[in-house]
Amino acid sequence: MSVPKYEVKDISLAPYGREKIEWAYRNMPVLRAIEAELIEEQPFAGLKISVSVHVEAKTACLARALARGGADVALTGCNPLSTQDDVAAALAESGMHVYTVHGDNEEEYIKHLKMALDFGPDIVIDDGGDFCMLLHSDMKHLVPGLMGGCEETTTGVKRLEILKKEGKLSYPVIAVNDARCKHLFDNRFGTGQSVWTAIMATTNLIVAGKTVVVAGFGMCGKGVAMRAKGLGAKVIVTEIDPVKACEAIMEGYQVMTMDEAAPLGDVFVTVTGCKDVIVGRHYDMMKDGAICCNAGHFDCEVNIKELASMSVAQRELRHNVMGYELKNGRTICILAEGRLVNLASGDGHPVEIMDMSFALQAQSARYIAAHGKELAIDVYQTPEVIDNRVAEILLRTKGIDIDVLTPEQELYLNSWDF
Ligand SMILES: NC(=O)c1ccc[n+]([C@@H]2O[C@H](COP(=O)([O-])OP(=O)(O)OC[C@H]3O[C@@H](n4cnc5c(N)ncnc54)[C@H](O)[C@@H]3O)[C@@H](O)[C@H]2O)c1
Repeated sequence: MSVPKYEVKDISLAPYGREKIEWAYRNMPVLRAIEAELIEEQPFAGLKISVSVHVEAKTACLARALARGGADVALTGCNPLSTQDDVAAALAESGMHVYTVHGDNEEEYIKHLKMALDFGPDIVIDDGGDFCMLLHSDMKHLVPGLMGGCEETTTGVKRLEILKKEGKLSYPVIAVNDARCKHLFDNRFGTGQSVWTAIMATTNLIVAGKTVVVAGFGMCGKGVAMRAKGLGAKVIVTEIDPVKACEAIMEGYQVMTMDEAAPLGDVFVTVTGCKDVIVGRHYDMMKDGAICCNAGHFDCEVNIKELASMSVAQRELRHNVMGYELKNGRTICILAEGRLVNLASGDGHPVEIMDMSFALQAQSARYIAAHGKELAIDVYQTPEVIDNRVAEILLRTKGIDIDVLTPEQELYLNSWDF
């Protein structure tokens, strides 16, 4: 299929996008250091890389670093509401293949993913596994040309692990999400901060004194709960994993079921990677004005279809705040259509967080470019050397030294007979 060079909302938005990209770039020292090497060594020369990641300024810096390293890059989104049209325009104007429009419906969203794949990539970078899903269904014919891929988030890695378990995985992938410099920072501190930035900006309400219910106490949920507590909220955690539930108790949170939490919460944040975490019976128990939002990858955690079917009226109460009036006279507020709130109703993670995540992505893509043809089909951890390098560069940019093991200490740590 012949595809146009770009499909974006409005190319004249490019100057605004360029400004956003330059602001992000000046605050991404780790990615800049990696980019300098890519420019020098051109490891992607002659390669095509397709990227499906939230199209906003930090992602633009990643895509540009890959292009500056010699790649021909095609970019699309990984969520229809997180695309920033001005950033997409700036990249398209710079000559990159860009296929995404903010607010794409399901059909257009898939069409744009397919356009970015029809480009014929050697390497794919996924966030949530939508490329991977297409490459294992409608677009299988592209797999023989693929060297490998990288996956950015927990939900995508889970999809890969299932494919592997079922013996269906068809190309090697690096689970960038599982690198220490990714999930320890991005999922916890990034989601922790950006979810509250988005909720506060979207609602203009105070968090202090409210009861916040966080569903899921994984890497992201820990961050969301920690920041809610710091802002003065009373925090309730819901979980399905008994160990995580105990961890939440030790952190000082109340732990209960969603059925018990539903009547108590003022703000609900789901971040489980699961579906139907908040459903009809929960809405019926909630207070008037209860706010529900989702920070997990897909928009199936807060069941909005059910809410819509049981509501007597729906009205946008404020930009990105949809009010659903129930028969009991109460109104439930859904932020950003239940899509991941920090990206659909905000700018996503802080720049410094994505600096680390995307420095990992750029290096992992480089690893695939260097080794892809030799790699067996599997899900790989990010090589430790890549993970450590990101932290080392970050410390260097902050002028911070850390201790180094003496030979005696090294021997001691590697001995059993001391
Ligand atoms: N919003 C963002 O910017 C952002 C960033 C990173 C990851 N994510 C996404 O957030 C989701 C969670 O990621 P994570 O890294 O925290 O995953 P994780 O696996 O570390 O944590 C998920 C937690 O949810 C719990 N859980 C699962 N089903 C549940 C249910 N029905 N009710 C209550 N708890 C349940 C699990 O036991 C687990 O503790 C994923 O979809 C991931 O892709 C979002």
